[in-house]
Amino acid sequence: MTATETIRSRRTTFKFKQEPVPKKVIEEILSYAIWAPNHHITEPWRFTVIGKETKLILAERYRQIQIEKAAAHVDEKNKAKIGQLGYKKFTSKPTVIVVSCIQDGDEQRRREDYAATCCAMQNVQLAAWEMGVGMQWSSGQITMEENTYRLVGIDPDKEYIIGFFYTGYPSEIRKPQRKPLSEFLRWTA
Ligand SMILES: Cc1cc2nc3c(=O)[nH]c(=O)nc-3n(C[C@H](O)[C@H](O)[C@H](O)COP(=O)(O)O)c2cc1C
Repeated sequence: MTATETIRSRRTTFKFKQEPVPKKVIEEILSYAIWAPNHHITEPWRFTVIGKETKLILAERYRQIQIEKAAAHVDEKNKAKIGQLGYKKFTSKPTVIVVSCIQDGDEQRRREDYAATCCAMQNVQLAAWEMGVGMQWSSGQITMEENTYRLVGIDPDKEYIIGFFYTGYPSEIRKPQRKPLSEFLRWTA
């Protein structure tokens, strides 16, 4: 695939095959992150690949979040069902990668480092796609909680978790939806 073909064809993956992505492939995919543009070459990106034990702890928390989000009128039995579905959903993601960026210096530097890490994340998504690996960038509640920072060993005073990458071989690819560029493009005199 050419770069433009990869950009055009990549889709967020929500459903994965059970087959795990080998560690070597994960490392290769992540190796493209570090070539992202980065003002002052601060290299602010950090990647934490979640192990089996940690994943199960996160899945339990995900279960609780789903229960907490359930409408007030839902009875306990159905809340338990919603929780179990959440647990299953989380454990169905073959690999979970936490992406964070160092937060250091003044406001401008922090913004630039955040932007650079987002560029790195897109490099990763595109490289993965080219290798047949799908990803879902998630910024859900679990990515923001203090407990999550503690669990994965990230100091919230020094690093900001931008999101999780749920990663694996796609079992379903969704159809893209976008408005035409003409709706977003302006030219000045
Ligand atoms: C910053 C960011 C945060 C996202 N967070 C979520 C999320 O929490 N849950 C989710 O389902 N998708 C999330 N996504 C993925 C989007 O849903 C996805 O990119 C969008 O549906 C467009 O689909 P596509 O990537 O296949 O073009 C996020 C994407 C970005 C860039």
